[in-house]
Amino acid sequence: MRLVPTSSGFAFSSLTVLLVMLGAFAVAPAQEEEHPTVAPALARKAATLILARCAVCHTTDLIAQQRLPQDRWTVTVEKMVHWGADLSPDDAALLVRYLAGRNHPGAPDQLPSFEQELATMEPTRAQSATIDGPLTGVAARGAGLFAHNCQACHGEGAIGGAGPKLARNTILKNEGAFWETVLHGRGPMPAWGAVLSHQEIADIHAWLVTR
Ligand code: HEC
Ligand code: HEC
Repeated sequence: MRLVPTSSGFAFSSLTVLLVMLGAFAVAPAQEEEHPTVAPALARKAATLILARCAVCHTTDLIAQQRLPQDRWTVTVEKMVHWGADLSPDDAALLVRYLAGRNHPGAPDQLPSFEQELATMEPTRAQSATIDGPLTGVAARGAGLFAHNCQACHGEGAIGGAGPKLARNTILKNEGAFWETVLHGRGPMPAWGAVLSHQEIADIHAWLVTR
């Protein structure tokens, strides 16, 4: 820094100061917008979707290690949908908000994995609710629901993969254990209470017993 600046040097440094100040004003509100927050129940849904819909092609670590602003997450998620990630526009928008709020450029290097985060999230009351009455599952609907939500881990035709074989699994006869596992998750198995309705779970169950 010059103590007695020449006229050009002075002009240069005041311009620099002005630009830095303008920059600070311009950037501050933008950074706030970069970190949207997602309600806990929606965060559960988002983390579950990442395990079920994104981990089909690559590890969740590839996602967890990124630190991107919201516009880049929008582009990334759009690209993944284009490549085959199975997401509705609403689910894609939720994932962008969740990822931009969590994996932004200012986020710490070490974040818990999506799996760890999901395990520590408290189920909400709605997710803990028990079934109101007997539901009749429709196997024809369950097939598609299984393909979207379960197949990535339980394999095509429910013959098993990263998760156990569900076709002819004795848990299908023990409805209490089936519902407990699917609604609340178990170990690496995500909880589905925030993502699927009870009717949809009943439809999947109905389809599984036909396998
Ligand atoms: C149909 C397969 C497929 C699905 C589903 C998928 N991805 Fe990818 N993804 C890829 C491929 C291929 C690459 C690039 C290859 C690599 O680096 O391993 C990639 C790379 C990435 C990267 C690294 C940065 C980049 O842009 O290359 C991120 C982040 C990512 N995916 C996020 C996601 C998210 C979030 C989802 C769920 C919404 C998802 N992916 C679902 C195939 C997929
Ligand atoms: C991200 C991977 C993943 C997805 C997606 C997934 N599961 Fe699982 N599931 C698992 C794993 C792993 C286990 C074993 C859990 C354990 O260690 O006890 C499991 C266990 C289960 C069990 C208990 C099986 C038994 O023998 O006790 C049921 C039932 C089940 N899953 C149903 C479903 C349904 C229905 C869906 C879709 C709505 C689904 N899962 C989606 C990974 C997954």
